[in-house]
Amino acid sequence: MASPRRLLRTARQLTSAKTPLLTSQSPRHVSTTPSPPLPSPSSPPLPPKNLKPLTESQREMLSSFLRVNQAGELAATLIYTAQTPPILAREPHLRPLMNHMYDQEADHLRVFNSLIAKHRVRPTALYPLWSVLATGLGWSTAVMGKEAAMACTEAVETEIGGHYNAQIRELLKMVSEWEAEGYDVGEEFTELISTLRRIRDEELEHLDHAVEHDAQKAEPHWLLTGVIRAGCRGAIWVSERV
Ligand SMILES: [Fe+2]
Ligand SMILES: [Fe+2]
Repeated sequence: MASPRRLLRTARQLTSAKTPLLTSQSPRHVSTTPSPPLPSPSSPPLPPKNLKPLTESQREMLSSFLRVNQAGELAATLIYTAQTPPILAREPHLRPLMNHMYDQEADHLRVFNSLIAKHRVRPTALYPLWSVLATGLGWSTAVMGKEAAMACTEAVETEIGGHYNAQIRELLKMVSEWEAEGYDVGEEFTELISTLRRIRDEELEHLDHAVEHDAQKAEPHWLLTGVIRAGCRGAIWVSERV
């Protein structure tokens, strides 16, 4: 059977394929909060945009995407915050790597905090629970050792990479349908898809770092990663809804 990493790589290639829609030169804009750019006095007037309003189910889908992504990125920052002191106490040479991964997670969290605020999406009601669980997961795997901490990152990023790929596929399907119906897509959706791709790639970079740093030498690797991956899937399912 293909490994999770290989499957994620394949999914990444599929969801990275540039479509004419997303590389179109004409500006497009669809939003629940329209704010078209103002032309400067010297520039020619922008062509009118043919935008399709979001349906109720599309609004709900986008809200749930932002809600679960914000919760996941909060959890990621807390996992690395809790892991870093115990890991660095034994492996001080890992400081640049831990700082690098934390900084990227903090940037992801800023992105979704700002999108949640901009679109007035309700954050998950389980924020406090996820915070406690993420901190506990980070700390407990780090005190087990570097290998267990890296296995935690491997498991989490395997699930999160697949999760972002699924969202990207859904959004590409939605905007393709708009284009097939003759509508414009809008800069906000183009930007959202490209932001999700960037974040997905950074999560998969973390997965690579974890494997390079002995994640698969954790004992017992199958149990640790199996439990953590199941926990991630459960947390994603709940955060999309609550
Ligand atoms: Fe992240
Ligand atoms: Fe990550």
